[in-house]
Amino acid sequence: MKRRSRLFITAFADTTTTDCFMKTITQILTEIVSDAFEKCGYEKELGAVFVSDRMDLCQFQCNGAFAAAKKYKKAPFIIAEEIKNIIVENPAFLKVEVAKPGFLNLTVTDEYLVSLLSEMSSDSFLGIPQVGENNTIVIDYGGPNVAKPLHIGHLRSAIIGESLKRLARSCGYKVISDVHLGDWGLQIGLVIAELQERNPDWECFSPDFTEGAVPELDADMLNEIYPFASKKSKEDEDFKVKAHQATAELQNGRPGYIAVWKEILRVSIADLKGNYQKLGVDFDLWYGESDADKYIDELVSILTQKNLLHESEGAMVVDVELESDKAPMPPVIIKKSDNSSIYATTDLATIIQRNKDFAPQKIWYVVDKRQDLHFTQVFRCAKKAELVPQDTELELLGFGTMNGSDGKPYKTRDGGVMKLSDLLETVTSAAAEKLSKSEFVSDEDHAEISKRVGIAAVKFGDLINHRSKDYIFDLDKFLSFEGKTGTYLLYTITRINSILKKTNTADSDAPVKKLYTDTERELILSILLTGDVFRHAIEEKAPNYICDNAYKLATVFSKFYHDNHIINESDEEKKNNWLALIAFTRKLILKHLDILAIEPVENM
Ligand code: ARG
Repeated sequence: MKRRSRLFITAFADTTTTDCFMKTITQILTEIVSDAFEKCGYEKELGAVFVSDRMDLCQFQCNGAFAAAKKYKKAPFIIAEEIKNIIVENPAFLKVEVAKPGFLNLTVTDEYLVSLLSEMSSDSFLGIPQVGENNTIVIDYGGPNVAKPLHIGHLRSAIIGESLKRLARSCGYKVISDVHLGDWGLQIGLVIAELQERNPDWECFSPDFTEGAVPELDADMLNEIYPFASKKSKEDEDFKVKAHQATAELQNGRPGYIAVWKEILRVSIADLKGNYQKLGVDFDLWYGESDADKYIDELVSILTQKNLLHESEGAMVVDVELESDKAPMPPVIIKKSDNSSIYATTDLATIIQRNKDFAPQKIWYVVDKRQDLHFTQVFRCAKKAELVPQDTELELLGFGTMNGSDGKPYKTRDGGVMKLSDLLETVTSAAAEKLSKSEFVSDEDHAEISKRVGIAAVKFGDLINHRSKDYIFDLDKFLSFEGKTGTYLLYTITRINSILKKTNTADSDAPVKKLYTDTERELILSILLTGDVFRHAIEEKAPNYICDNAYKLATVFSKFYHDNHIINESDEEKKNNWLALIAFTRKLILKHLDILAIEPVENM
């Protein structure tokens, strides 16, 4: 990273090391004001500065004088005056005012804003605080089940998980993403049992099969066979028993079943990869529940050694109840009475694997919040058994449901569960229709642009809500060119593209040197506050703050663009400054979109 000239106070935390990162403007001002509190004999912590909600009065505020007044038994006004007398000396401030009864109102100079903007634009992290310090996070998301088609229930996990991964990486964490396939459960037993009924003569179904080829399967076949077998098991008790038996025999390693299972996996994973690719979602690891199998013996022996495992109604369980529990907390089942493993067993064994392979500081699970009880049990058991260090953060980042306009989980027209691929087709064709009248979309680009706009609409429509909330899937609203939508953001980028193209400055990264107008100041301030937003978003593990900020940058840009006639500006210096500002705004909004895994379009 380049060192910046030291005009005013530099924003870099430590310019002597290579891993330094930029402080945000509120952090810098907080330091200045905190020092003043300390100098006056008060606690340093009272100097917290935050952005003002009355920009017409001042840009920043500090209300520390009120807490100080209580603590030091003095009038807040007097304290605020003392602080003011110190900080007015600082050239960063244009105005320092004390408003009765003790508010400290701060406004910085335009030169100072411009100097910070220039540091931010030459920072390789674009001013995003590198709070991750190379700590490792494993993120478990996606969680599709092999042999079952991906449905929109898995859409949220993929969208939210992908953006949390990108957010954490942008903040300096080392992140490993694991899709954690459901590849070891009853659904495989159902498919195997049904395949066997239909094709009893396949070699792999012979009890003496040891090795050899299995007939090739395909995705359409699996998509047809799983719902069929699942329905059949509910109506036909004999078949249900067969499916359970097949599951147990598979888990015990029957060679013929393992061979079919591998073929099912091959087809299913290829299909899943295609779907995730369309969504711009990708994983470092394609491990499944089956990969945890080899850690189950170790899990059982740790639990036995620590005396945690006991028998209950034929099953082997671990108690995880706490005295403070208000609701019932059942023990976690490790082995069922038939010695088979369940969901909790594979999740616990997977924790052993993740700790061995990556020793992560955090493991995050992006899963439907209705699985809350399961994860509480698993995490408590993992800590009790010391499968991970006590300070490892194990956390369920639970998400709500995507609902239809009736407020119930989103369904197809005939009341079935909507498949993800059908949903993507629906949104792409809605976007295509919407863009059909656009003079900026050529016939040749129409399909690709429609796809991007459609997917952006769905992703942004999801991510703008806090992940834990349910939301209504409203395609018309998501595709609107106005309001908090992915469409509006993509459109804003295309507007900036077109100005830069018209002025031949598309590739320039000239710095902003001067500030001329009010809307320009507002835009620069919003840009400089972005670092705080990232800090907040990563602390809360909530990409919706990134969505909000992208929208804010886009609206403030629009205001600036409306008020300042960039292309017709005759003062060349002013014009160049403005072009530099919008080029950086574009870069920053694109960074937000990248975190949301939304692909921009050149024009629309
Ligand atoms: N396959 C599961 C489901 O469809 C989600 C897996 C979530 N991850 C985990 N480690 N349990 O509900």
